[in-house]
Amino acid sequence: MPVNGAPPETGEFWIFGYGSLIWKPPPHYDRRIPGWVTGYVRRFWQASQDHRGTPEAPGRVVTLIERSFWASLVDAHDSAPEKVWGTAYRIQADKVAEVKEYLDIREINGYTIHYTPFHPADGSPSIRTLVYIGTPDNDQFTGPQDPQALAEHIYVSEGPSGLNRDYLLGLEKALNELSPESGDAHVTDLSDRVREIDRRRREGQLQVEGFEHPVSHEFRKVSSVDEQEETEKA
Ligand code: BEZ
Repeated sequence: MPVNGAPPETGEFWIFGYGSLIWKPPPHYDRRIPGWVTGYVRRFWQASQDHRGTPEAPGRVVTLIERSFWASLVDAHDSAPEKVWGTAYRIQADKVAEVKEYLDIREINGYTIHYTPFHPADGSPSIRTLVYIGTPDNDQFTGPQDPQALAEHIYVSEGPSGLNRDYLLGLEKALNELSPESGDAHVTDLSDRVREIDRRRREGQLQVEGFEHPVSHEFRKVSSVDEQEETEKA
C-alpha cells in the first residue's frame, strides 16, 4: 500500500525533467510522459559553470524551490503555477546503472538527487520520480534575481553546451509544446525580455560591450541611438 499518498514502489526507474531534460532526453528511455509535479516553483536561480556558462562567467539555469520556502522570499515574479510541468522518462531496466552514472556526470554542479511524485497529464496514476534540484544551500544557488538583470545575464552567457539564451528559449518552446496549459510565466517573461534585448541590439539601439566574447565582458545598456552616440563620444 502506498504510504501518505506516495506512489507505489514499482521497481521501475523514472526521472523527471523540468529543464533541459524536457527537450534533451536521457539515453535509454523507453517511455516519455508529459505531466507535472507540485510543491515546487521553477526559477532561473542556479548558476551554471559547466553547461551554459563557465567557472569565470557562470550562466543561469533552472532549479526547483520548495514552494513554502519560495513564499518566504521577495521575488519580482510574485506568482507561480501550482503545477511545475515537465517530462518523466522511464529508463530501460537493464540500463538504469549506466544512465544514473551518465546523469550524475551531466547534472552535477550543485544539483542533488531527490524523489517526488509525478502526475501524468493523461490522468494515469502518479509515479515516483528522481529529480535533480539545486537546493538553497548549494554554492550555485543565486536566490531571487531582478528579471531584467537576469535576462541580460542570460543574453550574454555561454558555456560548453551552448548559448544560455538558447537554453531559455528552448525551455519556453519545450514547455509550450507539452500541453496548452504548461507555459510558465517566469520563463515566458525572461524569454520576452531576451527577445527584446536581441531586437534592440540588432536595430542598433543597444550595445553589448564585448559582444564578440559575451561571457567575459560587462553588459552595458544604451537606451537610444542618441545616447549611444553620447556614450561613444565620452
Ligand atoms: C532537468 O532538466 O530537469 C534538469 C537538468 C539538469 C539539472 C537539473 C535538472
